[in-house]
Amino acid sequence: MLHHPCFLHLQYPILVLLLLSVRPDAAVADGGEFIFDGFSGADLNLTMDGDASVADGLLRLTSGRLSFLKGHAFYPYPLDFTEVSNGSSLASFSTTFLFSIMGPYIDLSSHGLAFVLCSNKDFSSALPGQFLGLLNQWNNGNATNHIVAIELDTIMNSEFQDIDSNHIGVDINGLISVSSATAGYYTPTHAFRKLSLTGGQPMQLWVDYDSNQAMMNVTVAPCCLSSKPSWPLLSVACNLSTVLPGTAVYAGFSSANGVLGSRHYILGWSFKLNGEPAALNYSALSIKTIQELAAQLQYQPHTNKIKTIILCAALLPTVGIAIAVSATLFKLHMKRRLDARRNQLEWQREYGLPSFTYKDLLIATSGFKDKMLLGKGGFGSVFKGLLPHSNRTVAIKRVSPESKQGMKEFMAEIVILGHLRHRNLVQLLGYCRHKQQLLLVYDYMPNGSLDCHLHTQDRNLCWAQRFRIIKGIASGLFYLHEDWEQVVIHRDIKTSNVLLDGEMNARLGDFGLARSHAHGADAHTTRVAGTWGYIAPELARLGKATKATDIFALGVLMMEVACARRPIWVNSADGEPLALADWVLAAWRRGSITDAIDPRLDDYVEEEIEVVLKLGLLCCHPSPNARPRMRLVMQYLDRDAALPTDLQPDTLLMSNFDVSQDDNEMHEQHAMSCPTTAITDLSRGR
Ligand SMILES: *[C@@H]1O[C@H](CO)[C@@H](O)[C@H](O)[C@H]1NC(C)=O
Ligand SMILES: *[C@@H]1O[C@H](CO)[C@@H](O)[C@H](O)[C@H]1NC(C)=O
Ligand SMILES: *[C@@H]1O[C@H](CO)[C@@H](O)[C@H](O)[C@H]1NC(C)=O
Ligand SMILES: *[C@@H]1O[C@H](CO)[C@@H](O)[C@H](O)[C@H]1NC(C)=O
Ligand SMILES: *[C@@H]1O[C@H](CO)[C@@H](O)[C@H](O)[C@H]1NC(C)=O
Ligand SMILES: *[C@@H]1O[C@H](CO)[C@@H](O)[C@H](O)[C@H]1NC(C)=O
Repeated sequence: MLHHPCFLHLQYPILVLLLLSVRPDAAVADGGEFIFDGFSGADLNLTMDGDASVADGLLRLTSGRLSFLKGHAFYPYPLDFTEVSNGSSLASFSTTFLFSIMGPYIDLSSHGLAFVLCSNKDFSSALPGQFLGLLNQWNNGNATNHIVAIELDTIMNSEFQDIDSNHIGVDINGLISVSSATAGYYTPTHAFRKLSLTGGQPMQLWVDYDSNQAMMNVTVAPCCLSSKPSWPLLSVACNLSTVLPGTAVYAGFSSANGVLGSRHYILGWSFKLNGEPAALNYSALSIKTIQELAAQLQYQPHTNKIKTIILCAALLPTVGIAIAVSATLFKLHMKRRLDARRNQLEWQREYGLPSFTYKDLLIATSGFKDKMLLGKGGFGSVFKGLLPHSNRTVAIKRVSPESKQGMKEFMAEIVILGHLRHRNLVQLLGYCRHKQQLLLVYDYMPNGSLDCHLHTQDRNLCWAQRFRIIKGIASGLFYLHEDWEQVVIHRDIKTSNVLLDGEMNARLGDFGLARSHAHGADAHTTRVAGTWGYIAPELARLGKATKATDIFALGVLMMEVACARRPIWVNSADGEPLALADWVLAAWRRGSITDAIDPRLDDYVEEEIEVVLKLGLLCCHPSPNARPRMRLVMQYLDRDAALPTDLQPDTLLMSNFDVSQDDNEMHEQHAMSCPTTAITDLSRGR
């Protein structure tokens, strides 16, 4: 076996512990499908090198016995990715595997592991550490690499623009990810749950590539959920036809550690071209063994000293791998940089968000040029930007120096937004502090605000889109009110704060006025804010924002979407202002509530639109206690619950309540304390 030419290619013979099952590479794998329900057996179909080995049914890529180790394991036969049948030049594929990462500390491990597709499985010249055993400083990013990797990265490397020390990224030919996200998954209610990759807990990862769409989805979840989460963590547009050769592609894993002796395990693996991979048989995998191993480690949280050493290693310029071990040597040299870095880390620990450099944001916006300006609001300007390196389009909100609002308010926004993650919320990607300026970076929403789509003549959303948007907003607000660890009152729900992403998913933006509260505590706030027309009567009177005032605004918004009318408009017949709720109610009283809807809608589902209009009215009930909670709103929209049978036009009449007696006085007061412009404007970031 040692005479096989492959062996001679390896330039790091010390690291070569095992080279199993070397077979001629001529044979092409049968049907492009294989499964490893655990790793054992003499005829195991696996080629390993470096520190990789197989024991107890586990594939251990790195053992953690030494620093700077790397390990690889590949399915030995090349896979035929050519797809002649359907026009596209590369096949689709799906794969899933169970993994476990054990660092010496529960919250610290180095460096990570990756699922790899490549044309050449000789990684002898690749470096460990931040190069994950995949590349080195000379070939990183070179298009001739023909490598696609999904990295599970547990160290934040600034040279590769890592977002944090616990992320999953898609790498193409280089270690600067084309897309990455903090590890976590979406529950069936679309709430985001963070996952810590380190600490040894077994987790499952799925990679699905659809060549017809040129889209790759990456999903991760703790082991073992009954089914794969229905929303992927990452959904990346990438055409792999240009990256991988069709005829001979190798699939496998690469892993590497740095100064920390970390272990990387694979428990089971299933792969298939053009279809769903066979499900892993969890009871055949060594899940218990892994859990026992993790328990034996008796994890301690790491100390700051260790963090410094890790930082030193992580910050090292690429050429300096060898110097990494002698951290003391360059400690002096790096001191200033480290201090700044530590400062930043502290800020990050507090706010839990990645930073951008001011330089990058300057480049992204061509120096905050006017042509990149998306909008201006009470708090500052919003620019469109193209981040260098990652080529990601973002919206950057710059808080104007002349802004009267304090830094504190913005920090409140950052703190809340930074911790919130949901499919139907505008995602804050990071921030940058530059002198007295604060720059907030958001996902760019290519389809602009819902407001524009509803109230522009030449744009028309069909009913299916509108209904999906309503459900999306409800889902986002449910998350804020009931599904997150703290109650968040949005306080400014309106159509101009709902943005539409590339797939026309609704995303709630503008949490500038949001304040969080511990669950159960009195969720009242004292400053009256909001937008005229969406403000609940008791909010105007008492100035207290509550969940119920958010739900009132949601009710108005639902009717606005169905009717394409503003919450308040001036009746052309008598010049009197008319409220949308009254308009819908009047149509209902006349016996046909659907008379109120947008005349441009011709494809609506009668039952759905009736639920939306009646629910909208119920949410706008003058008495806050009569308004449904978000959980119930969701059930009504999903038609899992029927609207109350006693819901009739007469039970909703404003005049049944004594709010109207001080109506005039209230309006005046209101006009003074809540000008419609007193709102933050992050939502303009589209
Ligand atoms: C190895 O692969 C060959 C060909 O695909 C297959 O026939 C054989 O059963 C595999 N062996 C194991 C142990 O999976
Ligand atoms: C072939 O391509 C079309 C669209 O390009 C797609 O709808 C269809 O599912 C593909 N068929 C297969 C077998 O991939
Ligand atoms: C990429 O790699 C090829 C082949 O190794 C080499 O000829 C080329 O110069 C490299 N390109 C860059 C930009 O380093
Ligand atoms: C990726 O996920 C999206 C949902 O975000 C889904 O519509 C799409 O079909 C998925 N694609 C693949 C290849 O699984
Ligand atoms: C991907 O790239 C190949 C080659 O450039 C092209 O033929 C194919 O149409 C592309 N696929 C998609 C979905 O854009
Ligand atoms: C799963 O693995 C267990 C234990 O090895 C075995 O008894 C069982 O038959 C397997 N189930 C399937 C569906 O292969």
